[in-house]
Amino acid sequence: MWRNKTIWRYAWPGLLLCLAAVPALAQSTSTCLDCHATLDPPLQVTEQQFAADIHAQKGLTCASCHGGDPKLADMDAMSKKAGFRGKIEKKQIPELCGKCHSDGAYMRQYNPSLRTDQLAQYKTSVHGKLLAKGDLKVAVCTDCHGLHGLRPASDTRSQVHPLNVAKTCSRCHADAAYMKDHHIPTDQFAKYTTSVHFDALTVRGDLSAPTCTTCHGNHGAAPPGVDSVQNVCSNCHVFQSQLYEKSSHKAAFQRSALPGCMVCHGKHDISHPTDANLGAGPKAVCMQCHKPGDVCDQARVKILGNLTQLDDGIRGADQLLAAAEASGMEVSEARLEQDQARDALTKARVSIHRFRVDPVNQDVQAGMKIVAKNLQAGKDALRERDYRRMGLGVALLSIFMVLVGLRLYIGKMEQKAR
Ligand code: HEC
Ligand code: HEC
Ligand code: HEC
Ligand code: HEC
Ligand code: HEC
Ligand code: HEC
Ligand code: HEC
Ligand code: HEC
Ligand code: HEC
Repeated sequence: MWRNKTIWRYAWPGLLLCLAAVPALAQSTSTCLDCHATLDPPLQVTEQQFAADIHAQKGLTCASCHGGDPKLADMDAMSKKAGFRGKIEKKQIPELCGKCHSDGAYMRQYNPSLRTDQLAQYKTSVHGKLLAKGDLKVAVCTDCHGLHGLRPASDTRSQVHPLNVAKTCSRCHADAAYMKDHHIPTDQFAKYTTSVHFDALTVRGDLSAPTCTTCHGNHGAAPPGVDSVQNVCSNCHVFQSQLYEKSSHKAAFQRSALPGCMVCHGKHDISHPTDANLGAGPKAVCMQCHKPGDVCDQARVKILGNLTQLDDGIRGADQLLAAAEASGMEVSEARLEQDQARDALTKARVSIHRFRVDPVNQDVQAGMKIVAKNLQAGKDALRERDYRRMGLGVALLSIFMVLVGLRLYIGKMEQKAR
């Protein structure tokens, strides 16, 4: 008897729920999509397009952003009474997106690890500040993220995926006509695409190389100030930064408000540096400030001399070892050790950032010691080869002499016999 009672207590609310779900199931598709899939752009939003949107995938609907009632047919769906907001003006977009994305409690229900500072950060950016002043040319959330097919940043098809960011920014920043009233350069994209960083990112697929937003921030996009340029670079180039930090350039550049690393490397078109940058030719970076023959220039000449000495040394030893190997001598150990000399040269090229002779000289002497050892190994191998060749020559000569002697002896014997 009591069993039946329990069954009923649980069963009848369930039954009611099922009944309530029947009409909802029948109308599960959105009337908004029914109409808007058939309209012409820009009013068109297709089911396929919206299905790719992270918001649709998380169960949100058109009404989550636009208001209105996706269950009502006809234009009633877009009535004021159904809470329809009408067109969302560009100026209102950050607040609309921020309504959910700044709400930590709400976002946690979906994804506890997602940041909720985008709107707060955006307001500190040049984009956000100018928007507040009524400038409608700046980027708002949808300019960078897209709309109605919006994917998470981790999706390679997202406009804000690291491989696509530069193109997204360039839509405005490389368009001179669009940026005309803002009087800032529009060469960042063109220059960036010639840089070592772009090359590492796109050609070698090294996602640790920086794109626009790595240096500028994504939501707080502002040009790094003179003080923070070095911080931007030092996130990745730790050793160069540590040395530069101790150098007298750091203080001197700061006094004159010069932008640290950028003085010698540039910003958007950073290229692979070479020893020629330390020279006095067309690629020289030191001669912008130093005069030929002054104390600093003398240091520069010594530093360059040091690097050249090790570079030449390594090349000389490489050639000798290659010659030894080509003539069949065993020098594989010395050839392996050449890598240590090359490492010393790489280290010396980092050490130049102290802008003193001593640290570079130390690295170079350590490399030269290894080169000297390998050079000796190469010379020994070649001497050994010559020695073996001479031995072989002596042996051949003796055999030849024996043969000649034998022939003479046979000749004599034949004469005797006749
Ligand atoms: C019966 C077809 C139909 C339905 C249903 C419908 N729309 Fe529309 N919608 C239109 C047409 C036609 C226009 C353009 C007419 C206009 O400019 O007023 C429009 C315009 C819009 C606009 C642009 C408004 C503007 O001011 O430019 C938005 C946003 C929009 N609809 C969203 C929705 C949403 C959200 C829903 C569902 C809650 C929805 N629509 C349902 C046909 C429909
Ligand atoms: C995540 C929020 C969001 C969702 C979800 C969303 N929209 Fe929009 N929609 C916007 C924003 C923001 C704009 C204004 C874009 C602009 O002007 O740049 C917009 C613009 C529009 C426009 C006007 C286009 C124009 O240029 O006049 C239409 C029509 C529209 N949406 C329909 C829909 C329909 C239909 C759905 C559901 C299938 C939908 N939207 C889902 C945020 C959203
Ligand atoms: C009604 C609430 C709501 C509104 C309004 C809204 N979003 Fe979302 N958004 C969400 C939810 C929920 C998710 C899913 C989070 C998850 O599960 O990862 C999401 C996800 C995202 C993601 C992907 C995050 C990731 O995982 O990388 C982006 C980007 C995004 N939204 C941008 C926008 C933009 C831009 C707008 C304004 C046009 C907007 N959102 C408006 C609720 C909203
Ligand atoms: C200038 C371009 C730009 C603008 C404007 C922009 N975003 Fe983003 N957003 C990005 C980039 C780039 C990423 C990817 C970051 C990454 O790779 O981790 C991102 C990531 C996100 C994410 C994923 C979580 C996170 O913070 O990494 C959300 C959510 C998001 N944006 C929402 C918004 C909202 C909301 C707005 C407007 C208030 C907005 N974005 C404005 C470029 C932009
Ligand atoms: C919709 C067009 C648009 C897009 C997309 C856009 N920007 Fe901007 N951005 C602007 C405008 C307009 C300004 C204002 C320029 C000014 O007057 O300083 C600006 C300003 C800036 C500034 C400050 C420049 C300065 O010296 O004042 C930086 C940095 C910047 N954007 C970086 C980015 C990055 C990085 C991206 C891509 C993730 C991006 N922007 C995407 C339009 C855009
Ligand atoms: C390696 C870091 C780095 C990368 C990558 C980078 N920038 Fe910059 N950007 C800088 C620095 C540093 C400045 C100069 C700040 C200063 O002069 O105070 C700057 C300045 C700017 C400015 C201000 C105007 C100007 O040219 O001086 C804009 C706009 C800008 N960058 C946009 C971009 C865009 C768009 C991309 C991607 C195509 C990009 N940046 C990639 C570091 C970078
Ligand atoms: C997000 C990390 C990151 C940031 C930030 C960054 N770089 Fe790089 N940088 C790299 C990577 C990765 C490479 C490619 C290294 C390679 O060629 O193996 C690289 C290469 C270089 C090279 C060429 C090295 C060579 O041997 O060819 C120079 C010079 C350079 N960066 C300078 C800078 C300067 C100056 C800044 C600041 C304006 C900067 N980088 C900011 C990661 C970064
Ligand atoms: C006064 C000029 C100058 C300044 C300032 C400077 N560099 Fe350099 N940098 C050079 C020169 C010259 C080379 C080339 C050395 C060579 O190949 O002989 C170089 C080489 C490099 C290299 C690649 C070579 C290597 O193996 O180290 C990187 C990366 C680099 N610098 C990063 C930085 C960073 C990061 C800063 C700021 C903390 C910085 N540089 C500041 C002049 C400078
Ligand atoms: C933008 C101008 C500028 C550039 C470019 C520059 N220097 Fe300097 N350098 C200075 C100034 C200013 C000082 C003096 C610092 C002081 O008085 O404390 C200095 C000091 C030095 C010193 C003395 C350091 C010490 O600790 O006593 C050396 C060595 C030096 N520079 C070498 C170089 C080399 C090598 C390069 C090229 C890779 C170079 N500089 C590029 C401005 C520059």
